[in-house]
Amino acid sequence: TWSAASIVEEQLARIREQVGDKKVICGLSGGVDSSVAALLVHRAVGDQLTCVFVDHGMMRKNEGDQVVQTFRDTFKVPLVAVDAEERFLTKLRGTTEPEAKRKIIGTEFIRVFEEEAAKLAQGEEGARYLVQGTLYSDVIESGGGTGASTIKSHHNVGGLPDDLQFELVEPLRALFKDEVRAVGAELGLPERLVWRQPFPGPGLAIRVVGGEATKERLDLLRDADAILQDEIRKAGLYRDLWQSFCVLPDVRTVGVQGDERTYGYVVVIRAVTSDDAMTADWARLPYDLLEQIAARMIGELREVNRVVLDITSKPPGTIEWE
Ligand code: XMP
Repeated sequence: TWSAASIVEEQLARIREQVGDKKVICGLSGGVDSSVAALLVHRAVGDQLTCVFVDHGMMRKNEGDQVVQTFRDTFKVPLVAVDAEERFLTKLRGTTEPEAKRKIIGTEFIRVFEEEAAKLAQGEEGARYLVQGTLYSDVIESGGGTGASTIKSHHNVGGLPDDLQFELVEPLRALFKDEVRAVGAELGLPERLVWRQPFPGPGLAIRVVGGEATKERLDLLRDADAILQDEIRKAGLYRDLWQSFCVLPDVRTVGVQGDERTYGYVVVIRAVTSDDAMTADWARLPYDLLEQIAARMIGELREVNRVVLDITSKPPGTIEWE
């Protein structure tokens, strides 16, 4: 039988044993996994840990701010925030293939960490250890250690570069999401972070599908996503859903608004229920809510003239489109 408290105790001991008195660096993504991993490591080794928050320009609206504030102000964890939007967008230019995007983003993350680690070291010995919020489900889905074939290389598992300079610290590697949330609550993580829906490391880039993840398309997707989140929260459904998000295919369709012909983008609504992301069921969102979401997207986003609902469960679909 496990309890959050006993997992915490066990992991604190392990982390201390692994890293000793060395410096540790942690990529904080904004999600519950990296937040909980960072808090565990901070509790274990205090200010030997520095968190690095990389804004790759593929986050949801305002998603980074809350996390940066919570860690800096509430938990007093040393934290560096890096604006790397330009850099990631440049690397992604011309790339549309899902695995290629994942590799590029995973590699670029590590490159940013390496640079920040070097800066933090200032000539002294720098961080040798990198904390990652890898969960058991990430390990399985990336084919790690199970002999299973790779379905997708999650950036924090299969997407790492071969010449990685860091030794990984992965205190959540044996845990499922519900256990991670319990550990987060045990460590005092605020509710809004404990209950944040999962968000993939490569972010909105893997939700701009069939075309290039340009700044314009990412911004459009971010706006559509913000409308969806707002309506889902207002309907009181946020916690009941494993994930709810939008996908922006590189597809435009003909519509009519007023007396005018329109030729605009299609936004896909994707909402699923799940226990651990290994399987998922498409969420039966109320029709009135869907109506309201579609009306707002088409009314507020000039480039959008059609909204569709993804009714595919996992399997055979995966949760994300890429
Ligand atoms: P799929 O799409 O494979 O996703 O059904 C399963 C869960 O994993 C999330 N996901 C990721 N998480 N890095 C992450 O940290 C990634 O590269 C990544 N890709 C997918 C996805 O959002 C879902 O919760």
